[in-house]
Amino acid sequence: MASEGDKLWGGRFVGGTDPIMETLNSSMTYDQRLSEVDIRGSMAYAKALEKSGILTKPELEKILSGLEKISEEWSRGAFVVNKSDEDIHTANERRLKELIGEVAGKLHTGRSRNDQVVTDLRLYMRNSCSVLSAHLLQFIKTLVDRAAAETDVIFPGYTHLQRAQPIRWSHFLLSHAVAFTRDSERLGEVKRRINVLPLGSGAIAGNPLGIDREFLRKELDFASISLNSMDATSERDFVVEFLFFASLLMIHLSKMAEDLIIYSTKEFSFITLSDAYSTGSSLMPQKKNPDSLELIRSKAGRVFGQCSGMMMILKGLPSTYNKDLQEDKEAVFDVIDTLNAVLQVATGVISTLEIHKENMEKALSPDMLATDLAYYLVRKGMPFRQAHAASGKAVQLAETKGISVNHLTLEDMKSISPLFGTDVVHVWDYSNSVEQYTAPGGTSKASVTAQIEQLRELLKKQK
Ligand code: ARG
Repeated sequence: MASEGDKLWGGRFVGGTDPIMETLNSSMTYDQRLSEVDIRGSMAYAKALEKSGILTKPELEKILSGLEKISEEWSRGAFVVNKSDEDIHTANERRLKELIGEVAGKLHTGRSRNDQVVTDLRLYMRNSCSVLSAHLLQFIKTLVDRAAAETDVIFPGYTHLQRAQPIRWSHFLLSHAVAFTRDSERLGEVKRRINVLPLGSGAIAGNPLGIDREFLRKELDFASISLNSMDATSERDFVVEFLFFASLLMIHLSKMAEDLIIYSTKEFSFITLSDAYSTGSSLMPQKKNPDSLELIRSKAGRVFGQCSGMMMILKGLPSTYNKDLQEDKEAVFDVIDTLNAVLQVATGVISTLEIHKENMEKALSPDMLATDLAYYLVRKGMPFRQAHAASGKAVQLAETKGISVNHLTLEDMKSISPLFGTDVVHVWDYSNSVEQYTAPGGTSKASVTAQIEQLRELLKKQK
């Protein structure tokens, strides 16, 4: 059994920790990722201690240079983790003592790992949010640029995965882009709530040593300071909000992935993924599988699992800090890594996929214009309900004759409604069809172009 003498909290302990308990308790394998922000937080705290008279100037200098050295060890990969290091906070403090001696023991005055860890996590997540936001914006830009370049391509739009109405390929791309802009907006809001300083809250009750929290806020560049020390040390709602943002983003990504997987099948043949984002089969030589998209789809489940897992951990916890909260970090790190990879792959998939315009056009069929046929009658004064029924009759008549609806003779059409005239031939043109949808948000060229402009404006603002 490990002796407790060298543990930072070892004073009141006589017996050692069970070795398996020690492993279970340690967060060192993953919270090393907080090493840099932990040192940054400690430097700010040391300065605040000097301001409030706990540290002399020379003591502060000693602590700062020790912390500097530790930071450098971490960045060189030279920091040696001890078996007894419980977490990144104790490891850094242990090392500080080795480097500068007893004065290291003054650094933790009035601070608790409770306010320390949540400060570290907020600093870390704040940085990660900026990186993720850049990836997300780049991805949206890729969708919008592609939409701008391919506005003339028309293909079937689906509802219930059945051919519904002709739409522009760009309209489809933008439909996904628009959802992602809401994710990007949400990320900004989550980041705003992450950007609050908890340091100076102690373990639960606050700080009794006149620590200047406003000074700490400025040092660590937080937007504001937490209002209540009990809330500050134990709330992880910002973690849940981040995991929820990630889950919703992944839901959007997985839906887009599913569309593209379907479009890439031989049966559809609307698109071909670049080799860079596909893999082959070890058995069937002809196969080219859309693994990138399948992985994006599956990661949605993984991310949602982390989100629901975290909410499960938080539910019913007594106030305030409990060790249960140590679990937050693995969830956050895993989701950050997943999003970083997925967003970059999604950007690559979209920028490199090839579209097959001819197949998309071939997949359009005149029955998809039945709604337009009804609108033709509406424009001639017929109430929509009647027009809908008349168009339905035309579809049915064509079916009984075994021909497609655009091949009905004018006589056939007139037998359904006298309002049909020779100009009905214009209905059977897919380009005419999409061009009718001029209201904002629709699939006409003008409307799609306006959407592109609006999205580009939005992207500029969110940068
Ligand atoms: N490693 C711990 C965590 O991640 C740090 C806080 C420990 N606090 C405590 N009171 N034991 O939550």
